[in-house]
Amino acid sequence: MGKSLLSIENLSKTFTLHHMDQRITALHDVNLHVKEGEFVGITGKSGSGKSTILKCVYRTYLPHDGDIWYNSEQLGMINLAYAPERIITHLRRYEIGYVSQFLSVMPRTTARELVRQAVLEMGHDLEFAEDETVRMLTHFELERGLWDSYPATFSGGEKLRLNIARAMVKRPRLLLLDEPTASLDQASKEKVKILIEQLMREGTTMLGIFHDLEFMESLCSREYRINKGEFQVV
Ligand SMILES: Nc1ncnc2c1ncn2[C@@H]1O[C@H](COP(=O)(O)OP(=O)(O)OP(=O)(O)O)[C@@H](O)[C@H]1O
Ligand SMILES: [Mg+2]
Repeated sequence: MGKSLLSIENLSKTFTLHHMDQRITALHDVNLHVKEGEFVGITGKSGSGKSTILKCVYRTYLPHDGDIWYNSEQLGMINLAYAPERIITHLRRYEIGYVSQFLSVMPRTTARELVRQAVLEMGHDLEFAEDETVRMLTHFELERGLWDSYPATFSGGEKLRLNIARAMVKRPRLLLLDEPTASLDQASKEKVKILIEQLMREGTTMLGIFHDLEFMESLCSREYRINKGEFQVV
């Protein structure tokens, strides 16, 4: 196993609910380490803080304490907890992918455009982007009739498959997966699994949350269990 890719150290995150004058400690002193090439799983009850960890890594949330060291291929060691926006934008474009638990889609962008855009922004040409888009949408068995439609009206499973396709088509160096199989049937789960395995062979490192423990344990090399915002290593 390779060197350290991601090191979360003493991470804490508190939310203040102003209207209720209340504070919620979502994460307390969390430590987590991922080496290059690993697939690390996070498990725990609903509300225990799993998504908050991934969102801090992707910087959807700003942590309030702690460090998130990411060893970037292009930029060297970066503390994601403090890095400026332009660094985060760069890493999201070229190195770190994220499949969110709930898909928010951009209005007036078709399924095909969403996936193609993800490839284009990495600097590839249009022909390559188009080929990769077709390959991905075909792999996830998104109905051809939907390719040029707007995802706003897609079913939950269709949105999710599109979301995964969009993240995976970039072959990111680090892929964050927040319950990517939650509303999928068995056949679609298999499709996700095949792609995860393919990406792992190509060197993608993954940090993922799955409610389907059997699915997760068939893939992951290590697991962290979180309980009310704190970790117990399994
Ligand atoms: N933006 C936010 N504002 C206020 N509280 C939040 C916010 N995001 C998360 N929380 C709170 O932080 C805690 C952890 O939430 P989180 O989404 O990380 O849980 P989870 O483990 O992913 O749960 P689930 O399995 O249901 O997805 C919860 O109590 C949640 O209500
Ligand atoms: Mg969650």
